[in-house]
Amino acid sequence: MQIKKVGVLGCGLMGSGIAQVSATAGFDVTVLEVDEKFIEKGFAAIRRSLEKLAAKGLVTESTDAIYSRLRGTTRKQDLADCDFIVEAVIENLDEKRKMFASIDPIVKPAAIFASNTSSISITEIMTATARPGKFVGLHFFNPVPLMKLVEVARTIVTTDEAFEAACEFGKKLGKVPVRTTDKTGFIVNRLLVPYLMDAIRAFEEGVGSVADIDASMKLGCGYPMGPFTLLDFVGLDTTYYITHVMFDEFKEKRFASPSLLKRMVMAGWYGKKNGKGFYDWSNPEKPVPQDAALRGIAK
Ligand code: 3HC
Repeated sequence: MQIKKVGVLGCGLMGSGIAQVSATAGFDVTVLEVDEKFIEKGFAAIRRSLEKLAAKGLVTESTDAIYSRLRGTTRKQDLADCDFIVEAVIENLDEKRKMFASIDPIVKPAAIFASNTSSISITEIMTATARPGKFVGLHFFNPVPLMKLVEVARTIVTTDEAFEAACEFGKKLGKVPVRTTDKTGFIVNRLLVPYLMDAIRAFEEGVGSVADIDASMKLGCGYPMGPFTLLDFVGLDTTYYITHVMFDEFKEKRFASPSLLKRMVMAGWYGKKNGKGFYDWSNPEKPVPQDAALRGIAK
């Protein structure tokens, strides 16, 4: 099947990134949000990102040309003639099911639906629609314009045609698609989540400070970010939610949230996005480790 028009559900961090790479790849993109203000915020981030990439010669077309293929809307009817829909709304099963159930009767029956969920079962989201064969997982990584991977997940009822079309679509976006199945966490989070939880447990046990554990994995293993910087970058609330879904599925301690993560989320420390996590991000250029506060000792 030929994909020309792409619909993106949600214009947050992931949705705006997916819309950006789709428009950059030449697709006409319609982005659905509940309120104009979210479209404005997401589109401003897209423009900033495109300008950065253009300044480095990493995109061949002008920012204006790419930007002209993007359209924001709050009307679901505007998605009717999309060939491929990627959902990136809040990581919550009910919200995702509600969203897909509401657009399913509107979008043309030939269109493929994909969810960018990182941990929720694709099968469980898919059953909210009447097109189970044309439903896949398409999991991107943050920051979407820079990260090369996309996980493409099939369920037991995904057709070969839809799965191959989703892999091809990923390639057209300049990503390397890896093929996986509808198993909670797919490949990356299956390996990444236990590593991140272990880093928190190591900190809880006094193995090292936030900065030293981060430096160890950066300098000792060549990781681009240490585990605490990455946790703050992904979002502690998001990670906490993922641990719940994964622990519920596997019932294994390695996926369970350490008590420190739970308490940080309860206290409203979500990481870089709201300024406080394992680091204080008041100055994003100079994050300050929060060891004393996290250990409950005088600062
Ligand atoms: N668009 C355009 N440019 C961007 C950008 C974006 N969205 N985000 C960052 N950049 C730019 C930076 O501004 C910087 O520009 P500059 O050099 O002009 O200042 C440039 O990219 C490089 O950034 P940095 O100098 O900060 O450093 P790095 O070389 O470390 O690259 C990185 C940044 C690619 C984010 C790298 O640190 C990295 O790979 N980190 C790990 C990210 C990761 O693991 N992501 C996956 C998270 S897991 C996930 O998403 C799944 C979910 O389910 C949990």
